Order: sequence, then structure tokens, then C-alpha cells
Amino acid sequence: MSKTVLVTGGAGFIGSNIADELIDRGYKVVIIDNLSTGLTENINRKAKYIKGDVRNTKDLDKVFKNKIDVIFHIAGCASTIKSFDDPAADLNTNVGGTINIINYAVKHKVSRLLYASSMTSYGVPDAVPVKETFSTRPIAYYGITKYAGERYVLATGLREDMGFKLNATAFRMFNVYGRRQSLTNPYQGVVSIFIGNVLRGEKVTVFGDGMQSRDYVHISDVANAWIGAIDNKKAFGEVFNLGSGIRVSVNELIDITLKSFGKNRKTNKIVYKAARPGDQRHMQADISKAARMLKWNPRIKFEDGLQDVINWAKETK
Ligand code: UD1
Repeated sequence: MSKTVLVTGGAGFIGSNIADELIDRGYKVVIIDNLSTGLTENINRKAKYIKGDVRNTKDLDKVFKNKIDVIFHIAGCASTIKSFDDPAADLNTNVGGTINIINYAVKHKVSRLLYASSMTSYGVPDAVPVKETFSTRPIAYYGITKYAGERYVLATGLREDMGFKLNATAFRMFNVYGRRQSLTNPYQGVVSIFIGNVLRGEKVTVFGDGMQSRDYVHISDVANAWIGAIDNKKAFGEVFNLGSGIRVSVNELIDITLKSFGKNRKTNKIVYKAARPGDQRHMQADISKAARMLKWNPRIKFEDGLQDVINWAKETK
């Protein structure tokens, strides 16, 4: 019997790609999504979809009428900027929503829960590449709530008073990119923002001096890590970085993107503005823990992954 996986946020960029991959591998999938940033067209037709919100217990009642074996909790407010604009909304969704999911997992004795944490949990890292054992001092409100969610999930996994064991895993995802990341939403990832800008012939805006760097990891590599960890006991109770292990500056990203379009800084305008609040300077994952314990390694080279997103962007324009 194939397992049923609940994917919260399954209409969004990360959730929908993972849901597709689960279905391709024979899992049954139930999705809850409030379509705040997700899209109906992203929802796999073989999935059972419930339009709803993880903050709303009536919606979760409907979801848990289905027999769920595994939960992938991915739904959340995924924007550092919005977390500063509306901290209460960010808190309610990312922490309140996660507590709801935990409560339902416990009530329905769903013993496996995988949680979408974030590299923003580290804030200013002790050093790069950052290891899972390094300090967590988030500097964006968003990082605080994602980290809190992670701790709730893992602390519940340690409880012995519930009559059953919740096997929890948290993935601190670095800058995930790939098809379906919004080409128009300025609050989603920078890779697709820049691609959208260049494709439409708009100026590209850099916040800060562009020397800040990020670790971009392709969504298909991320999906492999999540799905591969479902039955892996070594993952129970653990936190893993999911990145590529490689650091690319925003300036480098612009140059690579422009080159892929046959453009350059003379033919496409670039403007530099003040850095955004809570912006981390350098981020790069040490991925040796996932490699060692999950036998996971990212496979997609950044140039290839970027080209794939560009091809998709041109098709969907
Ligand atoms: C991102 C995600 C966050 C996720 C984290 C880890 C967004 C908005 N944030 O944070 O949800 O948890 O990675 O995976 O997706 N930049 C520009 N110009 C732009 C847009 C961005 O210069 O038009 C800069 C930003 O200031 C930042 C860098 O590019 O320095 C990356 O920004 P972004 O892709 O928004 O992600 P993070 O803030 O790193």
C-alpha cells in the first residue's frame, strides 16, 4: 500500500514541485493550500486538494478526514520583507500554523513529520559554509518564526507523554530555485525575479552593493532530499542543511543571467538601492551532514538549473 503524504503549501513553488515528484514515485498526495501565493494550475490533478489555511482548524478537520501517513509541512509566509511589514501575520502563519499541524499530527497519530525550515534561522552565521551545529541568531523576523516552527516540531518529537512517537525532521533550506518560482512577485526568490526582469526588458534592482552571496539549490535536488528521508530512520529528530554548498554573489547572478539572455550590463539597466532589512551578507551551506546521513548530494549545476528556469520562463511568458 502506498503511503499518503499531506503536503501543506502544495500549490506553491516548493510544495507543488515536491507533490509532483511524490506522485511520480507512487505516493498518494493530499494538499492544503490557501492560494495566497500558490496557484491552482500548480496543483497536481492526481492529488486530493483542499482549499484551506493551516491557521484554520475547520480546514484541518477536512484535511485529516483523509488517512495521512506522512506530513510535509511547507505552508508558510515565505518572505523576509513581509515579515517586517506584518510580523503578526508572519507569526500566526509560521508558528501558529505549525502548532496546528503538530496538534493534528498528534491527534491523528501521524508519526512522520518533515518541516520546511530555513537558512534564515542562522542569521549572521558563525562562519561560512555554515554547519547545522552553528549558532542560530535570526536577524529577520521571518527567520525567527521559521526557527521557532522547527523547534516546536523537533521538541514534540522528543516528547514521551503522548502515547506515540512523532518522528520529526527539519530541513534548513537555502535559496531554492526552479520552475514555478514567481517571475512577477518581488517577495519571492531573486533568481526568478532577475529572470523576469531581464525577460521583460526591465531594469534589474540590486539591494545593497550586490556583493552579498547566497547558496542556490535546485528544487529537484530539494525534492530528492525530502522524499528520500521519509523512511530513513537516521533522519528522525534531525536538522539538515539543504543547499548546493556553493556561494554565488548577487552581482555574479546578474552577470550569469544576462549572459544566458545574450545581454550585458550595457544593454540591460542595473540599479543599486539600499540594502533591505534583515538581509544576510553571506550564506553557504555545509552539506556534509545530509551527504553522510541521508546519502544526499545535489546534482544540478547552477548554470544548468538557471538555464532550465530561463527556458520555462520563456515558455510561460
Ligand atoms: C530567501 C527566501 C526565504 C528563504 C530563504 C532560504 C524569499 C523572499 N526569501 O531569503 O523565504 O527562507 O531564502 O531559502 O524568497 N535581491 C536583490 N534584488 C531583488 C531581489 C533580491 O538584490 O530584486 C537580493 C536580496 O536583497 C538578497 C538576495 O538578493 O540579498 C537574495 O534575496 P531573496 O532571493 O529574496 O532571498 P533571501 O532574502 O536570501
